[in-house]
Amino acid sequence: MKRTITLTVNGVTCEASVEPRRLLVDLLRDELRYTGTHIGCDTGNCGACTILLNGVSVKSCMVLAVQADGADILTIEGVAANGTLHPIQQAFKDCHALQCGYCTPGMIMSTIQLLERNPDPSEAEIRQGISGNLCRCTGYVNIIKAIGCAGRRMRDGE
Ligand code: FES
Ligand code: FES
Repeated sequence: MKRTITLTVNGVTCEASVEPRRLLVDLLRDELRYTGTHIGCDTGNCGACTILLNGVSVKSCMVLAVQADGADILTIEGVAANGTLHPIQQAFKDCHALQCGYCTPGMIMSTIQLLERNPDPSEAEIRQGISGNLCRCTGYVNIIKAIGCAGRRMRDGE
């Protein structure tokens, strides 16, 4: 039996009719068309599906859609403001922190939370902060550089 839920995604409130077993990532991608949230494993390992759920980064393949009833969700599509890249997105671009880009949305969502909690992370803290996100292209050196750069720019108010 389907259940109607209400959720706000990137500032837009919508209703959806979902089966209790439906994963949040599938609702976001297949019905609401926020396909920037990727699926890499479906088992909670890769972090490609990371979003912010009520301000907390979660792997959306590990959350049932019904659990998001009433929630405020941010996906990668909602990160840029008025066509201007978020400083984290800009830093990833500037530091060549992506190769195929498959992991990038999840990396950026985890980085948003990391820098909110710790605006000046050490390299070790950056590594810890993205430890739930795998990059199959193994581009970690530039990703870590980009996160450090984004932190600096955000602290400087750029
Ligand atoms: S698809 Fe969710 S953690 Fe890999
Ligand atoms: S850039 Fe290809 S998986 Fe990370």
